[in-house]
Amino acid sequence: MSQEDWLNRVQERERTDEARIMHLEILLEGQAISHVGLRLREVWLCGCRTRVGSIGGVATEPEYRRRGLATRLMERAIRRIDEEGGDLMLVSGDRGLYRRLHCVPAGKIHRVRLSRAEAEGLHRPGLELKVAEPADFLDFVALYEKEPVRWHRSWEDFQWGLKHTPAPAWTPTNALLVRRKGETLGYLIVQEPARVERGRGQRAFLSEYAGVRSALLGAVSQLFTLYPVPELVFHVPAHDAEMLYLLADQGIASETSTLPGHTFKVINLPRLMERLEPYLQGRLREEERRELSFQQEGETFRLAAGGETLELAGGEIEPVIFGPPEGPGIPQSRPLPLGGGKLHSLLSKVFPLPFPWPGLDTI
Ligand SMILES: CC(C)(COP(=O)(O)OP(=O)(O)OC[C@H]1O[C@@H](n2cnc3c(N)ncnc32)[C@H](O)[C@@H]1OP(=O)(O)O)[C@@H](O)C(=O)NCCC(=O)NCCS
Repeated sequence: MSQEDWLNRVQERERTDEARIMHLEILLEGQAISHVGLRLREVWLCGCRTRVGSIGGVATEPEYRRRGLATRLMERAIRRIDEEGGDLMLVSGDRGLYRRLHCVPAGKIHRVRLSRAEAEGLHRPGLELKVAEPADFLDFVALYEKEPVRWHRSWEDFQWGLKHTPAPAWTPTNALLVRRKGETLGYLIVQEPARVERGRGQRAFLSEYAGVRSALLGAVSQLFTLYPVPELVFHVPAHDAEMLYLLADQGIASETSTLPGHTFKVINLPRLMERLEPYLQGRLREEERRELSFQQEGETFRLAAGGETLELAGGEIEPVIFGPPEGPGIPQSRPLPLGGGKLHSLLSKVFPLPFPWPGLDTI
């Protein structure tokens, strides 16, 4: 049977479950043989709201691989995100399948590996770590909602996240509050280290934190009592200047990286920039704002101002907007063909945008 005839036998299905994950499937005789999971979420970026389609659970049954099924579903996911008002796509994965669809490494992150001795050096007396109980839930919400770059979480989203096994370790989470004299100052969400070994040495992962940075670091040594591991690994987004300052001040090194195991793509640039209008108004004079325009035709993106136009393809636009990826193994990006004119000057006033760390929102 030719590939074309075979493809005529399969059908596509879309269903949404109670956790609002959209399942895009290819069925053969009623059985799903290929799957892509998609969750549409809102993200707050510097006071503006944008929409992100998160992709996870990509799989094809072994006997049906290398026939283009996952590619077909990913192309469908890109269309569905656009139709559902999504501006960006974040893929929990980094491989040829996604790179061919012009997904690129996501975000600028500082990866910190904290040894037990370093954590002890950060210790501050009077801080207490409390294992969260259901009654503490609103403390988590109150701390998270004060973060300026974050995912919008409904009550159900947050509950789902706490029960879920997020990246980077994909193991169950333990939620801990950092308190002093009964006052809640922050939280640490730690992933179970037992299943994290995977031949890379034992370590615990901090998948999310929020609240007073100095209190979080002052309490982190207590995690080594709860988890008998030599090392704690966590990621600090490049825009978390306070956390990075405190770590550098204590002589704790970090390595620049991107969101581990993730890639992303701009789906709808004009809509993204429309939603970021208040941000643009804050950074540009009125006449500058009027001059700058963002257009898109398929996978061709046009940024224009002062008679200059910069035309970029899918995969090239992302480093302009969110900053070029940096880190070990990532080739240095070629300089952008921006010249030194008006367009360059305006773009450098507004970009890069901060990249939202998904934490509990990875799927
Ligand atoms: C990764 C995975 C989902 C790909 O599914 P798939 O349906 O085989 O994907 P596709 O057929 O669209 O593409 C896979 C490869 O087949 C190739 N291909 C597509 N159509 C083809 C055809 N007609 N003939 C030969 N090769 C073909 C593609 O070029 C692609 O190659 P590349 O990945 O080296 O660039 C599948 O291998 C899988 O389930 N793996 C285990 C789970 C997993 O790792 N999921 C991804 C998590 S990030």
